[in-house]
Amino acid sequence: PGFLRETKTKFYRKVMTKRIFVVGAGTMGAGIAQLAAQNGFETWLYDLSVDQLSKAQAGINKSLTTLLEKGKIDATSYEAILGRIQFVNHLDAAQHADLVIEAIVENLTVKHEVFKALEGLVSPTCILASNTSSLSIASISSALKQPERFLGIHFFNPATLMPLVEIIPSVLTHEAVVAQAQEIILAMGKTVALCKDTPGFIVNRVARPFYGEALRIYEEGLADFVTIDYAMTSIGGFKMGPFELMDYIGNDVNYTVTETVFEAFYYDPRFKPSFTQKRLKEAGLYGRKTGRGFYDYSMDRGNPTPDEALHQVIFKRIIAMLINEAYDAVLMQVASPSDVDLAMMKGVNYPKGLLAWSEEIGPSEILAQLNSLYERYGEDRYRPNALLKDRVNAGKPLW
Ligand code: NAI
Repeated sequence: PGFLRETKTKFYRKVMTKRIFVVGAGTMGAGIAQLAAQNGFETWLYDLSVDQLSKAQAGINKSLTTLLEKGKIDATSYEAILGRIQFVNHLDAAQHADLVIEAIVENLTVKHEVFKALEGLVSPTCILASNTSSLSIASISSALKQPERFLGIHFFNPATLMPLVEIIPSVLTHEAVVAQAQEIILAMGKTVALCKDTPGFIVNRVARPFYGEALRIYEEGLADFVTIDYAMTSIGGFKMGPFELMDYIGNDVNYTVTETVFEAFYYDPRFKPSFTQKRLKEAGLYGRKTGRGFYDYSMDRGNPTPDEALHQVIFKRIIAMLINEAYDAVLMQVASPSDVDLAMMKGVNYPKGLLAWSEEIGPSEILAQLNSLYERYGEDRYRPNALLKDRVNAGKPLW
């Protein structure tokens, strides 16, 4: 086995990735293809639907034209970038690729079919990746004959702008494949966070309380949407409050992520979805895209309750829950402390890393906040994380 491993390392390392084949020309696939072409990769963008391909082409043209008009790129690079993308509705061109990134519908059976077809076409050294948000990397790789060349490369929307990419090896991924994927993503100008193959990866796991605890505070009647949003933006410095953000992401999408993470964690009460958001989803009140979600976009939002003590209560409760989740991701080896902090700043624009924030506020204050919630409600959802307790007992930073 040692010999085999060594041979494979060399095998995967000798490839200099220049050609990227993107599967699925929807929101994410189009963004990833544009990003790859902008960074000098020869790119193919594939979709089953010709209609979707022409929409993607129009979208990329428009986005590059804006960059040209703003002077961010010149006419020569505009032409060169466009010249590097081919829009195709057959898989054949995958035979030229050094890396395939799949961004099709979030359905395991469909992804399996696509990867089986791709494996029959690509070169033996081609790396295969999925942009999945909610399926496990191991579950997708089970369709492959060579699962060691497969991993998760998870971009954030919009892929051209959001700096973070989570790289997720499965239990079978070869380390040389991980190293090469990292190099490619860095060459696209992105920040990489390495992450274990666990539900929600880093960002979609650690961010859950931002939405969940805000909803809980609202459901208990402690404050309305606009007051909770105000507390998080004014005290916390978040760019958007939880309700504004859920409306922006879409309550259909955001609710589904919460539900998927909850199920994947064997119904751990920390991740329990909220009825309030479920009802909005059921009623088709998705948020900005439908004109109404938590807020009605045809009306003024009104003002937050002018009560500074209440704002502090809201902020302290949500931030304590977020920090608890960040400690849990470290405790469970999902990612390193620095990658957990980096991921939240670069993937969802948090003003600070949560572990650094804990040091700033004081870990004992965070622990006291969680203990008081736990005591009051007696719910497992509020249990303080063991690593946070270790940090408080140590009396100094753990890393
Ligand atoms: P989308 O619905 O915008 O696009 C999916 C595209 O895949 C469509 O153009 C569809 O025609 C195409 N497609 C479906 N089945 C196909 C097949 N068998 N072969 C070829 N093309 C096929 O979806 P979106 O939002 O771009 O998501 C794609 C993937 O990226 C999903 O796995 C999702 O979980 C993940 N993701 C989505 C993010 C988001 O914010 N939308 C963020 C990060 C990851």
